[in-house]
Amino acid sequence: MISYTQVFQGTAFSSSSPKEVKILKDHLFCINTDGMIEKIVAPEEEGYQILIDSYSDTEQFHHLAEGQYFFPGFIDLHVHAPQWAQSGTALDLPLYDWLNTYTFPLESKFSDIHFAKKIYENVVTTLLTNGTTTALYFATVHKEASLLLAKLCAEKGQRGLVGKVVMDHPEQNPDYYRDADTQTALADTEEFILAVNELAKSVKQGVYPVVTPRFIPSCTDEALKGLGELAAKHDTYIQSHCSESDWAHTYVQDRYDKNDAFALHDFGLLREKSVMAHCNFLNDDDAELFAKTGTAVSHCPISNAYFANSVIPIAHLHAKGVEIGLGSDVSGGYSPSLFDNARQAVISSRMLDDGVNPALPAEKRGLPNSRITMNEAFFFATAGGGESLSLPIGRLEENYAWDVQIIDTTVASAKLPIYSANEDLFDVFHKIMYLVRPENIREVWVQGEKVHSRM
Ligand code: GUN
Ligand code: FE
Repeated sequence: MISYTQVFQGTAFSSSSPKEVKILKDHLFCINTDGMIEKIVAPEEEGYQILIDSYSDTEQFHHLAEGQYFFPGFIDLHVHAPQWAQSGTALDLPLYDWLNTYTFPLESKFSDIHFAKKIYENVVTTLLTNGTTTALYFATVHKEASLLLAKLCAEKGQRGLVGKVVMDHPEQNPDYYRDADTQTALADTEEFILAVNELAKSVKQGVYPVVTPRFIPSCTDEALKGLGELAAKHDTYIQSHCSESDWAHTYVQDRYDKNDAFALHDFGLLREKSVMAHCNFLNDDDAELFAKTGTAVSHCPISNAYFANSVIPIAHLHAKGVEIGLGSDVSGGYSPSLFDNARQAVISSRMLDDGVNPALPAEKRGLPNSRITMNEAFFFATAGGGESLSLPIGRLEENYAWDVQIIDTTVASAKLPIYSANEDLFDVFHKIMYLVRPENIREVWVQGEKVHSRM
């Protein structure tokens, strides 16, 4: 008989399509030495009882108690790790003022590796305890501190994709916080890529370097071009902010007479492994370019409500074939939880919908077909994020990584209103999506390893 490193028994939820969640009731999940789901066995299938008999007396067997469920780990497609230190502050400022009066002064302090360590340890742990098993991080311009963030992800068991931020434009960035010059920015980025790739050789769950021009305004053309070339040379991920606010969008129009999407594309920055945050002002041509190049959108609904004053037509972009995942945008978004962001994604989409205010004339009521359901928000937080990163994560299916949050609906301090053992499991799923708090996230596993436990 094949031997598995772990066998889990319980009820799981996973997206079967963007709109549909499937329930795997009392299934067995058999995990191999690589931390992948090798086999899933339903109770009615042959071998189910044999597996239970052979594993149930071993430490490798994990049986969920009543009221506990498996959820795929969440994939946060946009987090500014240093900004965790200011989460919840200055949210009333416009983006440009917020960057200059709060964010750049804070990020400049990450030249101090001890300061960086304190914040980065805390943010990686916080994301894990909130169920985020994979995170796509912006660090700061500092190479050493950015590498430290990748090392902390590796140590704490999170799948981290980390970018050393590039901001080389001498007029667009403050002197106290930018790359020394374009050549240094590119050389530091390449050294960072090589160092993270070296680190990755010994990291089971994977760590990845990400080419990270902060956004077009912060970079020179030379840097943007050089970063596109580096990403192609080393086949790396790419991340940036795209068409976020009126200010940024207009700036790019003035500089290139085109939208961010086409400008980024001209520099080789839209590729299969690209993830662009926000994208509130993408038009249909931009969306087609995203779909064609395999560029994904990181949808940051909480942040968009504050800094973009905007609701992105996410249903429309998805229908156009653009890959979409969810991002917290800490600290433009105050919450490190993708549960919170999934809730906001649904709420915001309903505010955009044309059914919003029947008292208004038809042309002012919003956009048709804008609503997304919680099933879709869950898809964006899990399977959509996995597709965006082209990694086998975000679904509880065979040949996917065992990246899981074990949700306990019975925790005394955060008990969910489930009063019958026979409650419809789709209702249970929705109660979890709307009501779960970190207290309910009992364990978190990444690539078959337990990385967080509340017991
Ligand atoms: N645009 C450029 N930098 C940032 C940032 O740190 N946060 C957000 N939300 N937008 C940005
Ligand atoms: Fe951001």
